Amino acid sequence: MRTSLVAGNWKMHLTGVEGAALVENVAHQAQFKTDVDIVVCPSFVALSKVREACRNTPIKLGAQNVFWLEKGAFTGNISPTMLRECGVDYCIVGHSETRGRFGKLEVPESTVATFAETDETVNLKLRALLYHSITPILCVGETLGEREEGRTDAVIREQLLGALKNVDPVEMYLLVVAYEPVWAIGTGKTCDADEAERICAMIRGVVGELAGDEIADQLRVLYGGSVKGSNSDELFAKPNIDGGLVGGASLNVEEFARIIMSA
Ligand code: PGA
Repeated sequence: MRTSLVAGNWKMHLTGVEGAALVENVAHQAQFKTDVDIVVCPSFVALSKVREACRNTPIKLGAQNVFWLEKGAFTGNISPTMLRECGVDYCIVGHSETRGRFGKLEVPESTVATFAETDETVNLKLRALLYHSITPILCVGETLGEREEGRTDAVIREQLLGALKNVDPVEMYLLVVAYEPVWAIGTGKTCDADEAERICAMIRGVVGELAGDEIADQLRVLYGGSVKGSNSDELFAKPNIDGGLVGGASLNVEEFARIIMSA
């Protein structure tokens, strides 16, 4: 039996003080919902403040990115040990926005190369997280163009095989995968629940090929992309969707609590 997971990806929103207040309110509203794991992923600089707020609640702390090496001349980067020191248990890796694949672009096209994560760096980060016993939330998903070309399944398979290359199957028990169609992120367009279920089942199948049925059966596969209180019931009712990775709606106490209740 898999425990559902709802993770809030706050992206570049909320200061530490704002994030701490949100955690307190969500913890209060969801206090009787004990059968779901709840995670919030603030910005790096908000981690410590939000950690304090999480302390007497069941809410766990996640980060939005990591560098794969322990230390060195890598200006602006954060190591897994630094995340651990901040109390981080989960970390998003391979988000479409860190891969430079945007559903809604809010910066000039010419600056997109700044967000240049590849399957190879996703793999390095994922392995570093597993080594440090931080649960990776691995994001995969196709762009609108890839979907229209009929390449959705192939793209997701390739992203999974790239991210999980040389990962010891026994380590995969920690893994969480989030199916996030790029065209649904921050756009208000949600993937049809049956199609999201089909892709999440396919993801479970690919992990099964790599690590066996036992690991695949207990793998948590999330859906992400414009999850809201109004669509979470239908999505989370699907047998292969074990919760959600929630962006915009996780910034609002009532919406986020409503989504947690659906899980
Ligand atoms: P959204 O973002 O819920 O705002 O679409 C989801 C995500 O990027 O993880």
